[in-house]
Amino acid sequence: MKIGIISDIHSNREALEAVLNKLTNVEQFYCLGDIIGYGADPIYCLEKMKEIDCLCIKGNHEGAITGELELYYFNDYAKQSLEWTMKQLREQDFHYIHSLPKKVDITNDILGVHGSPRQPLWEYILDEQTAEGIFNKFDFKVYFIGHSHVPGIFTFHRNNRIIKYFEATAGADLVLDEKHSYIVNCGSVGQPRDGNPQASYVLFDSEKGVINIKRVNYAIERAQRKIIKAHLPHFLAQRLAIGI
Ligand SMILES: [Fe+2]
Repeated sequence: MKIGIISDIHSNREALEAVLNKLTNVEQFYCLGDIIGYGADPIYCLEKMKEIDCLCIKGNHEGAITGELELYYFNDYAKQSLEWTMKQLREQDFHYIHSLPKKVDITNDILGVHGSPRQPLWEYILDEQTAEGIFNKFDFKVYFIGHSHVPGIFTFHRNNRIIKYFEATAGADLVLDEKHSYIVNCGSVGQPRDGNPQASYVLFDSEKGVINIKRVNYAIERAQRKIIKAHLPHFLAQRLAIGI
């Protein structure tokens, strides 16, 4: 099966459209949270998830909407954009966001979560030490994650237990093998933070066991203009151009 996995759309319609235009042959979509927050098109992005029958889970921004996470813990930019987003959302959007689970099974040992299996909405897996804790505690072949907005791959050798990290700033291709387990960060569709402003997404061929992390250009200036027009913090527009 050809599977499209996206994360951290963050209300960026232009980035989402560019990614979906690249994923036209996909049979099933998954979104690993943070559909909303930061950007100017929350309703469009939520509606698009339903339109493409995307299996979505909550991110920390959805957790803020449902009250599972207090706004207090978010930085000022996130907080301001979440307050703005809450004013845009309709009743059915709140229902939809509340209905989202925190984890998803793609197959029996290929799973998805926003942050980490330990703390689905909040924990970042940014280094080998944190990844080691996850590989040791949970039994899986692949965990797809988002949250950090930095695409990359942790590999864990099941025999010698060596963990390696591969960044995917320019994309990456991974062929699954018998010896390893993997944590794959899909990066962010709508607000990349690895210095590459291109939208990030994943194509996963579950029959071949091949994972491609890919990047695509999108209409950044249009997304920026909408953020400014909505009176959201200017920094949220500026950062899109430089991928921070
Ligand atoms: Fe995010």
